[in-house]
Amino acid sequence: MNGSRCCCILCALVGLALVWLLMFAAPAVVRAQPPKGPVSFIKDVAPILSENCFACHDAKRKKGKLEMTSYETLRKGGTKDDPIMPGKARESILMDMLTATGPAQMPPKDVGDPLPKEQIAIIARWIDEGAKLDAGIDPKSDLRHELRIRFQPPPLLAAYKYPVNVNALVFTPDKKKLVVGGYHELTVWDAAAGKLEKRIATRAERAYGLIFLPDGKLAVAGGRPGQEGDVRIYNINAGKPTMLGGVPTIDGVNDKTVFLRELVQTDDAMLAIALSPDGKKLASAGTDRLLRVWDLPSGKLEHTIENHADWVFGLAFAPDGKHLATASRDKTAKVWDLSAKESMLTFPDHQNSVYAVAITADGKFGVSCGEDTQVRQWQATDDKKQIGKQIKVMGSHGKPVFRMVQHHDPKSPIVATCGADGTVKLWNPVAGTALKTLTGHSDWVYAVTISPDGQLVAGGAWNGEVRVWRVADGKEATAFNASPGYVAPAAKAAAKK
Ligand code: HEC
Repeated sequence: MNGSRCCCILCALVGLALVWLLMFAAPAVVRAQPPKGPVSFIKDVAPILSENCFACHDAKRKKGKLEMTSYETLRKGGTKDDPIMPGKARESILMDMLTATGPAQMPPKDVGDPLPKEQIAIIARWIDEGAKLDAGIDPKSDLRHELRIRFQPPPLLAAYKYPVNVNALVFTPDKKKLVVGGYHELTVWDAAAGKLEKRIATRAERAYGLIFLPDGKLAVAGGRPGQEGDVRIYNINAGKPTMLGGVPTIDGVNDKTVFLRELVQTDDAMLAIALSPDGKKLASAGTDRLLRVWDLPSGKLEHTIENHADWVFGLAFAPDGKHLATASRDKTAKVWDLSAKESMLTFPDHQNSVYAVAITADGKFGVSCGEDTQVRQWQATDDKKQIGKQIKVMGSHGKPVFRMVQHHDPKSPIVATCGADGTVKLWNPVAGTALKTLTGHSDWVYAVTISPDGQLVAGGAWNGEVRVWRVADGKEATAFNASPGYVAPAAKAAAKK
């Protein structure tokens, strides 16, 4: 395992703006080469500011009273004056701070390194050239929005240089294949042979939630952390494949037969998705704290509910389809009455981020898990006095528990959880008992899914590995690395010998 890794899901699973942007900033958005002609604010400067500064200098956070998310507010300045002196980079406060080595350094020392020299040079040139805003853009315009309109996902690589972090995976309805979230793509694997069958390019850099709809279409919640989020519907069986590294690849970005519809676009990643038991409602939530519910197949937005004080990581419908459970970074799980648009219970016992939640098929119990490492069972309905009260701790992963999925079988209900301990665990959510621990992963397991018939369970890990086990005997059925074309360093070295 990687010893230097921060042990919280905030960094690893989502790592919003700060951690994520500063540590893994997606270079795809920032031009690698300095522009030949005059520097463009929107093409060259704004992407740098967005990736490195907006996290602390947007309308919400406004550090130093400076909001940089529009050209107008950037030029207005914060506690100090306009940080930019057009034509005079050397006299601009902005440049002072970008090149400072003491406490004035931006981004602040404790969150990251100074910007690369080339990026500082681009900003300096833009100021020296007059610090102009590109023609056609309103100075008041939200720069995040302007950047989103211009964003083009990078072309897919035939072979990954690094393993992908698996944040989501799902079995196809016939359980023969697994769809796994990749880097700006979804990959489809033969679940028995572990062979890559198809690649689907997507606008979203990461998928956090995948769910097949009754009509066989795939709903995906995801985005680019700190930049944008979306919920999109795909037909993964359409399109004209082109070959990439010998694998048929379809275009889920531009081909309208593959990318069918966008239900929502937001300013930051969407993290969870859920389908009502009757297949008629789709719910999604994420970093904007809002819970959205759409009617299917019309795609009409029926509910937008705001009540969690922080990101929503997990979602699950109750079997009646009228109640929805949520798990939040605000340290609570809640159950919502959709018709009343109210929360009917709050479960506070985790006392730390709650990552996932489920409601049992009889509607009686809630089960939730999170950063506190525990899987907890609580009263969801029935006894009014006891509602929202913990019944018991079902067990622990010993490390944070990231996700949970449920198979609604009245005879043998199962909940599967996955965690930083590298295991997937199976539980009986009604009895509140532990059933099995599925091992084999050597890294944090972030994603877990159960086949529609309840016979297979699969876990996806931070190091790209996907493992499939049989629920009946807990034996491993398949294992593969879900990073197209990736060759692990050890395998490379062995091949050379
Ligand atoms: C982790 C949060 C954080 C990040 C990221 C960050 N800043 Fe700051 N910034 C601050 C804080 C806090 C202050 C206030 C410092 C003070 O008043 O001592 C500040 C102040 C400033 C100011 C002075 C505002 C004024 O009028 O007082 C400028 C200019 C600035 N930042 C530019 C940037 C730029 C450019 C970036 C990106 C390259 C950036 N900052 C990234 C936290 C941040």
